[in-house]
Amino acid sequence: MFESLQPMPADAILGLIAEHRDDPRPEKIDLGVGVYRNARGETPVLDVVKQAERRLVDTQDTKAYIGTAGAASFNAAMQSLAFADAAPDDRLSTLQTPGGSGSLRVAAGLILRARDNATIWVSEPTWNNHVPLLGGAGLTLKPYPYYDGERHVIRTDAMLEALRAIPRGDLVLLHSCCHNPSGLDPSEQLWREVTEIIVERELVPFIDMAYQGFARDLDNDAFAVRHMANKVPEMIVSTSCSKNFGLYRDRVGALSFLVPDDSTRAVLASQASSYVRTMYSMPPDHGAAVVSTILEDDALRAQWIVELDAMRDRLCEMRGLLHGALETKAPDHDFSHLVRAMGMFCFLGVTAGQVGILKRDFGVYMVDSSRINVAGITPDNVDYLAESIAAVL
Ligand code: LMR
Repeated sequence: MFESLQPMPADAILGLIAEHRDDPRPEKIDLGVGVYRNARGETPVLDVVKQAERRLVDTQDTKAYIGTAGAASFNAAMQSLAFADAAPDDRLSTLQTPGGSGSLRVAAGLILRARDNATIWVSEPTWNNHVPLLGGAGLTLKPYPYYDGERHVIRTDAMLEALRAIPRGDLVLLHSCCHNPSGLDPSEQLWREVTEIIVERELVPFIDMAYQGFARDLDNDAFAVRHMANKVPEMIVSTSCSKNFGLYRDRVGALSFLVPDDSTRAVLASQASSYVRTMYSMPPDHGAAVVSTILEDDALRAQWIVELDAMRDRLCEMRGLLHGALETKAPDHDFSHLVRAMGMFCFLGVTAGQVGILKRDFGVYMVDSSRINVAGITPDNVDYLAESIAAVL
């Protein structure tokens, strides 16, 4: 049966992990997949996660099934982290999912159960995997303008004009913070304008919040979620603990729905439960148990925020470092957009051909679009990186 299948190309982001790993050059630099790295180039387990894991090993007395929606304590903690008190509990429903991608996939399935011809508008550009993930699930995707690759700014007017023209009732996918791939986020004023259009056009906001805490702080990064939750009858929010808890491989995420009333909430929860049962039956427990252990304990929570702040500060510092090094090595080029971006990513602003040369001649790995993960920069490699970039300009 399977002989009829054709091989698939490697994933544009994940494929870089293996390419970089297999490169024997000691000076190689990985600016590809979105994982945090410290100044030694490592992605360590957070200390607070280690502590919570030890506590779990000592206290957990069963590995029996929990259920399709995962652990109630995790769901309550994640809902509160995203929404705070922006919406009443009887209009909110949250379920634990296998990572942020699992959350997006379950959301797509439930949207299609409610509306089999649903269209979702996504920023141009958006995360590489949004398109195959949501499109593969059956949603129709259409783009709205977002990033100006020449001037390295958000195309505010074009975006607002496009949003105003979206047919009533369609969904709009928005990145609450650390826009992936551009790193450019709307100001609070722009979020307010976007929200007004969403309300006026009766659109359904679907917010992907994979980087809460990586742009400004936990509350400011949730501004879009909380502001909209106050104004719209319905919204969908996907969250991930991959980055802010460093739990990448444990696959920890959540999916929240804001609905008009408690009876819709109950129906949707039952639909979600039956949908999950036919997909993966129930989410993995361990990482989510770590997260709720941390969020429910004041001391662990405070320690987590310190570690999260340190990751964010390092990213910010590395942007500045690369920008400074490029000012010296490539003085004729303006890279100021590097320091205007937030979170892990931004575009370097070179062509796909130049990305290829950086990989081939210098062992510098990034996505073809020239999206870089600034966590791959260290004080030790920044000069080599800036020289390599200058050489291909
Ligand atoms: C990224 O954009 O690099 C991360 O979100 C990891 C992934 O799964 O693509």
